[in-house]
Amino acid sequence: MVEAFGVGLGVAFTLVVVVLHFSKGTGRTVPEDISQQVLDRRAETVPETDFPEPMNRSIGGGAPAGAIAGGEAGSELEEGEAEAEEDESPSAIPDDEAETYEITYEKEGETIDVPENQTLLEAGEDQGWDLPYACRQGQCISCGGHVADGGNSEDYLIHDGNEMLGDEELSEGYTLTCVAYPTSDLTLQTGESP
Ligand code: FES
Repeated sequence: MVEAFGVGLGVAFTLVVVVLHFSKGTGRTVPEDISQQVLDRRAETVPETDFPEPMNRSIGGGAPAGAIAGGEAGSELEEGEAEAEEDESPSAIPDDEAETYEITYEKEGETIDVPENQTLLEAGEDQGWDLPYACRQGQCISCGGHVADGGNSEDYLIHDGNEMLGDEELSEGYTLTCVAYPTSDLTLQTGESP
C-alpha cells in the first residue's frame, strides 16, 4: 500500500515537472534594468559645474565630460605655447638666414662675428677659448658674463632658458653665455657673475 502510494507520488511529481517544462509560463515579463534611467534622472537634478566633484561624477553628472574637454583644450593650448616658444628660440633660425653681430670678447682680446642663432659660449668655444661653463642650460651660473657696453644685457642679447638671473642682475648687464644669443654688437667680459 505504502509502495503504491510512493510510486503514485513519484509519477505525479514527474508529471508536474513535465507539464511545467512545456508550459508557456505565466506571461509575466521581467522588468528591464532601469538602473541607467535612475542614474540619468538623478544626474539631471545635479547642476552642471566646471568642477569634477567626486559625487557628481559618481552619479553621472555632466562635469566629468566638461572637465575632460577642458583638459584636452588646456593641453592643446600648452602644446601650442610650447611650439611657439620653440619657434621663438634663436637657435631655430636657419644658418643662411641668421644675421651676425660683432662681439668683442674683452678678456680674450678679440672681436668675432657671432650669428644670432649661436650662443656667446659656443661662439667663443669655436675660437678654441676655454670658457667657463657647467650645465649649459641656464640653470647654474658658471658661464656668467657681463656686457660692458652699459645698461641691460637684454638690450643686446636674448636669453633662451635663463633660470638664474633676475631682472636686477640683467639690468646690471649680467648674462648667462650658454643661453645668450646676440641681437646687437656688444663687448663681453667672460667669467663674470653677479
Ligand atoms: S653653464 Fe650653467 S647657466 Fe650656463
